[in-house]
Amino acid sequence: MLPEAVPEPRHSSPHRRSPRRPDDEHDDHDDAPAPAPAADPFGRWLKLAASVIANSSRTQPADAVLREHLRSTRDWTKAETAQASQAVFAFYRWGGWINGELKLESQIRSALEFADEFVRRPQAFTDEELLARTLPEWVNAALPVSATWLRALQAEPTLWLRAKPGRAQSLAQVLGHTQPGPLPDALGYAGEENLFRRPEFHAGEFELQDIASQAVGLACAPQPGETWWDACAGEGGKLLHLSLLMQGKGMVWASDRAEWRLKKLKLRAGRAQCFNYRAALWDGGAKLPTKSRFDGVLLDAPCSGIGTWHRNPHARWTTTLDDVQELAAVQLRLLDHVAPSVKPGGKLIYSVCTLTRAETEAVTATFQKAHPEFAPLPLMNPFQASESPRPQLVLWPQDTRGGGMFIAGWQRTH
Ligand SMILES: C[S@@+](CC[C@H](N)C(=O)[O-])C[C@H]1O[C@@H](n2cnc3c(N)ncnc32)[C@H](O)[C@@H]1O
Repeated sequence: MLPEAVPEPRHSSPHRRSPRRPDDEHDDHDDAPAPAPAADPFGRWLKLAASVIANSSRTQPADAVLREHLRSTRDWTKAETAQASQAVFAFYRWGGWINGELKLESQIRSALEFADEFVRRPQAFTDEELLARTLPEWVNAALPVSATWLRALQAEPTLWLRAKPGRAQSLAQVLGHTQPGPLPDALGYAGEENLFRRPEFHAGEFELQDIASQAVGLACAPQPGETWWDACAGEGGKLLHLSLLMQGKGMVWASDRAEWRLKKLKLRAGRAQCFNYRAALWDGGAKLPTKSRFDGVLLDAPCSGIGTWHRNPHARWTTTLDDVQELAAVQLRLLDHVAPSVKPGGKLIYSVCTLTRAETEAVTATFQKAHPEFAPLPLMNPFQASESPRPQLVLWPQDTRGGGMFIAGWQRTH
């Protein structure tokens, strides 16, 4: 199964030329031994992976290109699909380690060797090496980069499910290959089945949702009977969670500027039997989709997506500092526009799946300065129940075992 796509990565991926690790025992020749899987002696998966990489760019994210390749030629076996997918993601995950002078197929093999080595001997990769090679240089200026975070980024991501409240245990028994998560309804899935084909999925028994995204719904803590607005609802991942937490009572408005995303939201809502919502297009401008005032507004804003780089490694090489700055301006504008829709006493929750200072603390500080009618609202950290609630939660992948997320809360005082 492919990792979830990040919405809008841009621009072409540089195939970085970097020296090999000094202790690497393999040579740099193009005929270096491949990890030839017995199931696929002809290496079709390798050619598929190479074609995906060659056709990926800033505007054509690797996961979308891979899906397109798989759709256009349907004779790939399950093993080939899995191997090609693993190879493409390893290539971008280990991009800073591989020798860009090799032929592309040899680079891919080399990336797979690094991935394998990291699983077997993680300590063979020193912190210094990880800090120097895992990410592009600009990231160091944008957020505090630690070796612990990079180790989490380089590991194979866990696929997280969100079961209907209270049903995680029974779902785990039916699905198999699951591990309980750190949040109440979360299950990590390590099986090989296509979960989109499971009857339980079609019956709305679970959603695929990263654990860090599940934390956003919990931080909102909506109550049955309230009215909420999920202003950047996209395909509805968080909307469905809000609705469940409200036990289907009350109303959630869902808006987005992308009509196609709202169409997918409607399909998902039907499957999840979520009926207490209303969808409307909103382009993010000052003209809002409704004049209603809400008990809570969630702004899950478009962002640089750095918190998803564990499962979307291609975006590490296509995202730029300019993106971060442009997105921070968009986030502030969206916050300004939604703020008047919060009732006195109501909540405003801002979330982004990124951790750059510009899109987190800088956006919230600027918003706070311009909006004295909002007071910081302490939020419970769902991963650290014993911790005192704080108005801002910075969730790092090494703590969530999934993505990274920033969540800030305010309450309207007047
Ligand atoms: C982080 S995603 C939302 C994900 C969604 N909340 C979920 O849980 O599945 C951000 C969303 O903001 C939307 N968006 C981007 N720019 C926008 C704008 N200027 N106005 C309104 N929505 C915008 C995108 O279409 C995207 O769906």
